Amino acid sequence: MKEKLLEILEKAKNEVKSAEVMNQLEDFRIKYLGKKGELTKLLKEMGKLSKEERPVIGKLANEVRSSIEGILEENKKVIKEKEKNARLQSEVIDVTRAGKINKVGHKHPLSLVLDEIKTIFIGMGYKIAEGPEVDTVYHNFDALNSPEDHPSRSLSDTFYITDDILLRCHTSTVQIRTMMNQKPPIKVISPGRCFRSDDIDATHSPMFHQIEGLVIHKDITMRDLKGTLDTFAKRLFGVNTRTKFRPHYFPFTEPSGEVDVSCFKCSGSGCRICKGSGWIEILGCGMVHPSVLEECGIDPEIYSGFAFGMGLDRIAMLKYEIEDIRLFFENDMRFIEQF
Ligand code: DAH
Repeated sequence: MKEKLLEILEKAKNEVKSAEVMNQLEDFRIKYLGKKGELTKLLKEMGKLSKEERPVIGKLANEVRSSIEGILEENKKVIKEKEKNARLQSEVIDVTRAGKINKVGHKHPLSLVLDEIKTIFIGMGYKIAEGPEVDTVYHNFDALNSPEDHPSRSLSDTFYITDDILLRCHTSTVQIRTMMNQKPPIKVISPGRCFRSDDIDATHSPMFHQIEGLVIHKDITMRDLKGTLDTFAKRLFGVNTRTKFRPHYFPFTEPSGEVDVSCFKCSGSGCRICKGSGWIEILGCGMVHPSVLEECGIDPEIYSGFAFGMGLDRIAMLKYEIEDIRLFFENDMRFIEQF
């Protein structure tokens, strides 16, 4: 029995040394020391031994067991170390390799100017209102007091989807939607895309952008309108900017006007940008027509208000001296990254 024990120890030593991975070690442990393992099996035969032999063999068996456990433990450490080294090898980072350049985007010039305009109006207490680009003829024309025979209603000027549905030709639709859904006081600006069936050239695009403004409250007068737009112009184009209000006609405002700003390039002496006049037209505006207020359920005897609408593309072109509107929509990064 003594020989057998030593034989087991010898065999175990050799096998365990050959183990390459952790799983193999566990298999060997079970093979020798497990419940049905070789050593355990042998010890079950202890009963056959004489009284004198039993303690001697018992002691030896314990020594063999702890030797095998020792070898297993030792090899565990060796394998762990090997595995760690292999992992380190495979995860080696070559810090000398050229890096990948992550291209970071750049804000579009229209977004830059829109952000600036939003900041100015939010600073004056305005909220942002939004409306759909596909809207009804009612919201785009009728509720805005536009007569049936107004030229902008014609098929050649506006994109109709059906007789009653169209692509909005201005953001004034959002005035109607806001007044119908909200009680005064109202103070909103509404930026968004608009569509008109214009041929494309350097200053026209069938898709363009407007920013609408609307203020409704008690005792709002033309003075509020002029003060607001003058402040806006000074913030956007510089403190020395002067504004000029010219009478105009819009069906949804009475009285109506257009606003010119003194040329920010030549300060009014006349240059290429202002075409020699010293002034640049930037928006349309007026006092909201009583019929429009009434249509939206707001009593014109109690409330009054002003509205304005400006072309974002035009303002961005002026500000950045961009001569062709098409550049905005070609998405050439060499153009966009300049601003
Ligand atoms: N909707 C007009 C346009 O597209 C711009 C405009 C003028 C908007 C006067 C207004 C306004 O709110 O009061 O030409």
